[in-house]
Amino acid sequence: MQAQQKQTPAGKQPEESTGKRSLAGEEYEVEIGPVAHGGHCVARTDAGQVLFVRHALPGERVVARVTEGEEGARFLRADAVRVLDPSKDRIEAPCPYAGPGRCGGCDWQHAKPGAQRRLKGEVITEQLHRLAGLTPEQAGWDGTVMPAEGDKLPAGQVPAWRTRVQYAVDAEGRAGLRRHRSHEVEPVDHCLIAAEGVTELGVERRDWTGMESVDAIAATGSQDRQVVLTPRPGARLPLVELDRPVSVLRVEEDRGRSGTRGVHRVHGRPFVRERADGRTYRVSGGGFWQVHPKAADTLVTAVMQGLLPRKGDMALDLYCGAGLFAGALADRVGDSGAVLGIESAKRAVEDARHNLAHFDRVRIEQGKVESVLPRTGIDRVDLVVLDPPRAGAGRTTVQHLTTLHPRRIAYVACDPAALARDLAYFHTNGYQPRTLRAFDLFPMTHHVECVAILEPAEKGV
Ligand SMILES: C[S@@+](CC[C@H](N)C(=O)[O-])C[C@H]1O[C@@H](n2cnc3c(N)ncnc32)[C@H](O)[C@@H]1O
Repeated sequence: MQAQQKQTPAGKQPEESTGKRSLAGEEYEVEIGPVAHGGHCVARTDAGQVLFVRHALPGERVVARVTEGEEGARFLRADAVRVLDPSKDRIEAPCPYAGPGRCGGCDWQHAKPGAQRRLKGEVITEQLHRLAGLTPEQAGWDGTVMPAEGDKLPAGQVPAWRTRVQYAVDAEGRAGLRRHRSHEVEPVDHCLIAAEGVTELGVERRDWTGMESVDAIAATGSQDRQVVLTPRPGARLPLVELDRPVSVLRVEEDRGRSGTRGVHRVHGRPFVRERADGRTYRVSGGGFWQVHPKAADTLVTAVMQGLLPRKGDMALDLYCGAGLFAGALADRVGDSGAVLGIESAKRAVEDARHNLAHFDRVRIEQGKVESVLPRTGIDRVDLVVLDPPRAGAGRTTVQHLTTLHPRRIAYVACDPAALARDLAYFHTNGYQPRTLRAFDLFPMTHHVECVAILEPAEKGV
């Protein structure tokens, strides 16, 4: 690979912290190598330094301008600022706010939709190989990343899928999105991936002076609309006048002893009603719900098809949020079965208990999975669903789960790296993936959702 240093901007001072010269602003002409996890591709300078280049595609020849990193660092971050030899997968970014130094919300606006899914597939393949030592075949995966229903659009058209958008607010009170790895705000007058219900509120056209951020939520399956205001210290709440009626919540200034900031109702309902698998779920205080309107149903279907619950089964729903999988399991295990959900967020636990109150067979425990699960005294279960946050479940929880001898485990993962690492722990403890499915529930971004179904490994495997 030929890499050529193009220019060295004058006036670069050694950085105080390390004494090493920052390379930010330097430009290299490079050939772009494979995609890497995180929305960028890998390239190398002549000196052999690794560049993580955003706004590029594999196989392209580009001029990459360094955005972060210093001499001698293991890797540098860079943006492709000129494309000399474009990939056939490249398109003109449909979003006017995408591009080097602009909005950090999307990573692949410049890639055809099919190519985005292929790139995500390559990332999953690489993570499985590197962290779990698995080929796609060994993971039971056909290598495809499926679009959500209705999202297969021609190149240049963008699915408006984001039902929850956190707008950052700049010093002039304009709503926008944060630039990549920055606190700076890119003001936007229309986010293309925002769901229609979010766009209709008109958050982007209002003055939000004094606010740090404004979360806009458009529920799926109900007309509930909500904004959650996070004020700057000492700021007064604005009068919220949007283009549609909304309920308004406010985030507390101070973090409590738990380290989290409380959320209070200003007016309207303190929750929104979401629908999935034929049931309505209350989600309070801006709590977790899948962001893509098809995500909850897509994931419930994949999990239930993988687990095949039977009447009388005892099942766990770990990291259960408002009770999405616990509800689906409760239906399928019947009166003779039982479901235990575990969730750390107090409001989500209240929601899950409320949402599933009509099932005697469902119990929801509050606390961290890693501490609550061992305390339950349960020593055997039939089925497990785990849907942990980005960091994954970790070695101890994985190990504990395998001692319960479940017939099948469904691992729902929003980070393929954490999934692959945890699959390796499962392998060590005698469980192997039987199938893996991947869904593009975050079009235009590098994020991807996977559902792995695990079973006890056959003896000798
Ligand atoms: C990816 S969400 C999944 C929620 C739910 N399964 C759904 O699809 O709506 C992860 C959930 O785990 C919770 N959580 C994070 N860390 C946790 C922990 N250590 N133990 C229990 N719950 C945790 C979060 O509050 C969040 O509700």
